[in-house]
Amino acid sequence: MKKIGVLTGGGDCPGLNATIRAVVRKGISEYNYEMCGILAGWKGLIDGNIKELDMNSVSGILPRGGTIIGTSRTNPFGKDNKGDHERILENMEKLNLHAIVAIGGEDTQGVAFKLSEMGVNVVGIPKTIDNDLPGTDYTFGFDTAVNIAVEAIDRIHTTAESHNRVMVVEVMGRHTGWIATFAGIAGGADLILIPEKPVDMKEVCDTIKRRHKRGKNFSIVVVSEGIKLPVEDKKEEGFILQSAKKDAFGHVMLGGVGSVLAKMIEKGTGFETRCTVLGHTQRGGTPTAFDRVLGTRFGIAAMELIHKGEFGKIVVLRGNEIIPIALKDVMGQYKTVDDYWYDLAKVFFG
Ligand code: F6P
Repeated sequence: MKKIGVLTGGGDCPGLNATIRAVVRKGISEYNYEMCGILAGWKGLIDGNIKELDMNSVSGILPRGGTIIGTSRTNPFGKDNKGDHERILENMEKLNLHAIVAIGGEDTQGVAFKLSEMGVNVVGIPKTIDNDLPGTDYTFGFDTAVNIAVEAIDRIHTTAESHNRVMVVEVMGRHTGWIATFAGIAGGADLILIPEKPVDMKEVCDTIKRRHKRGKNFSIVVVSEGIKLPVEDKKEEGFILQSAKKDAFGHVMLGGVGSVLAKMIEKGTGFETRCTVLGHTQRGGTPTAFDRVLGTRFGIAAMELIHKGEFGKIVVLRGNEIIPIALKDVMGQYKTVDDYWYDLAKVFFG
């Protein structure tokens, strides 16, 4: 009986458990594999920390947020982790693991790609609330994050209107503005600021003033955490950071740009301005039906690849089809928001 491991790496997101369930159910009921969870992402494979996943252990997890096998941002190829990838190769043998399903975003898939080049049997599944992985139209987790943000924007709308305020809503998304753009379109934002479009503060203030001039005395500004602002303090290349620390993959810790922006808007327009940072609420709780279905489809397709022995690949969504592509094709760049989406959003600015 072949033993297959599944792991979740990077930031968690709603839909991980639905995906794990699909992987395990397909593996056991159709292919008679022995299935196990590798605990806390790549760290679990470095430490040899796994647990068996049977049909009962994935029962009831479909609607649950988080991940039942834990996650981490451990990077076995990071500069402080000398020897970790050799430990992974040893543990693959020791634990008798035939193949791995790696569920994660660009960092996790980057590790999966390097391991596949070293002969490890691995298949990837794309997840991230940021929707920034190239090669796939959507990652699971994104739709839920957008829906959470839209619900927040709807609530902020009513209080903005009562108080005649400008309300800045800061969303996640790292270096791309997918969450901001989609949540802004769906939530009726009066302005959306994303990393793909340099910020011109005069234009921001003029847009808000113009809106107020035509009698709308409140505004909603949706801002992505990864925009750069022309400020002097707390900056690294213009980003507003939570701390000077970087994670194991060298990413800066974004967060806090909304309150800096709110002060700049208040100064530039004279309108009372407040900021709400949605933060990790966007990654918590139950997944939308779309993300449950997408994660389930990815899980099933990944196991089909494992069964056919097609390794070094990742399953992606193109249109309405799930297809396999080479892991190397999702390496090395972010999928950014293109002009189609931003031009559409811009129609409603001001
Ligand atoms: O990649 C997902 C994400 O939520 C980003 O949008 C955000 O910048 C980052 O992770 C936050 O990471 P952490 O959970 O380590 O604070």
